Amino acid sequence: MSLDVDFVRAQFPGLQSPWALFDNAGGSVPARAVIDRTTHYMQHRAVQLGASYGLSQSAEADVRAGEAAAALLLGASTRETIVSHSTTMGFGTLAAGIGPTLSAGDEVVVTNLDHAANIGCWRRMAARHDLVLREWKLRPQTASLHTDDLDGLLNSKTRLVAFTHCANVVGALMDVPRIVDVIRDNRQDTIIVADGVAYAPHRQMDVAALGVDAYAASLYKVYGPHLAAVFGRESLLLAAHGQNHDFISEDRLPYKFQPGNVTHELTAGLSGITDYLDAVATHHGLDIGDARQRHEAVFAEFAAHEAALCARLLEGLLRHDAITVLGPHDPDPNIRVPTIAFTVSGRDASEIPPRFDPHGIALRCGDFYAPGAIEALGLEGAGGVVRASLVHYNTLDEVDRFLAVLADVV
Ligand SMILES: Cc1ncc(COP(=O)(O)O)c(C=O)c1O
Repeated sequence: MSLDVDFVRAQFPGLQSPWALFDNAGGSVPARAVIDRTTHYMQHRAVQLGASYGLSQSAEADVRAGEAAAALLLGASTRETIVSHSTTMGFGTLAAGIGPTLSAGDEVVVTNLDHAANIGCWRRMAARHDLVLREWKLRPQTASLHTDDLDGLLNSKTRLVAFTHCANVVGALMDVPRIVDVIRDNRQDTIIVADGVAYAPHRQMDVAALGVDAYAASLYKVYGPHLAAVFGRESLLLAAHGQNHDFISEDRLPYKFQPGNVTHELTAGLSGITDYLDAVATHHGLDIGDARQRHEAVFAEFAAHEAALCARLLEGLLRHDAITVLGPHDPDPNIRVPTIAFTVSGRDASEIPPRFDPHGIALRCGDFYAPGAIEALGLEGAGGVVRASLVHYNTLDEVDRFLAVLADVV
């Protein structure tokens, strides 16, 4: 059975409107189960954690269950899963903890393709601790990182490399295990950080299979509340300096990286992401194996539907001579996700989305907080790019509506 999109859409109150959402890489709408879990917590649990009375124990259990749901999504243990307010905050907190463990003259590699969340914190760490910063540059022809360009940046002093799993502007997937091999061949103990934010809405994350030391996903783009799940390998988290109160010991994982603790009601809401994926599994007869296996099967259904959306959208865009699609032109789900960036010849990007607004199509343009990528692509003077970003709850009809408006716009 292919993905039952009507069933899927019925699970999202935010989709019960005439708007066609083409801005999902900015943020997805939350599943009803997430809203229900959050509401339930606020109505029935909202006391503080850690006391002996029953209500406090129930509240604690719901928050811990939410943390476990975040760990399940990453494929990590709860000890290695930091629930953070955002990926920016999570990586920033990690960088603050890792910096003091490095020595002046050690080297750090960042890219110019990434969202600023996986660049700025490492740059600041390098400046604060006298580290040498190197930049792995995207190739403008493909708008992607190429492993051949990384080799020359690595040496015996390389202590950390940070790059993205999926380009948030153009939707191109990176071969993370291969990149990890190249880095480990150079030096086994280099800290490898990958940004999974643009990947996580589309595929099941699996930090163990990737072989990275740190990884993050923003859960408000994965049908959840405005939180992020940040993975840190246990040895890395133990060695890095805690960022919580002075009296929180260095072996309190992940609490030492959750200053002020997690947002209780939203963390409790994370169990709703599991509920949602389980509901899709049950509906599609994919109730097999453990939760990870079920969710893997569900994400495979998402990927197949998204590939069909992506093919239709790419084909429609590429039909217009005035349009340039940045990044891969191939809808193959092994190569890209349906986050598609384009420019229109002779037009500033900011002129395009307002033309879609009256038609109820939600679209966005700009640099998407990846100004380095936009500059490397020579588009900073053109308002950046227009980005149409789809997820599994979008429909082929919505793509056709989009293409009909586009025909009038170009
Ligand atoms: C690829 C990527 N990384 C990181 C971020 C930052 O996420 P957050 O808003 O959770 O800090 C974003 C946000 O759009 C993103 O697209």
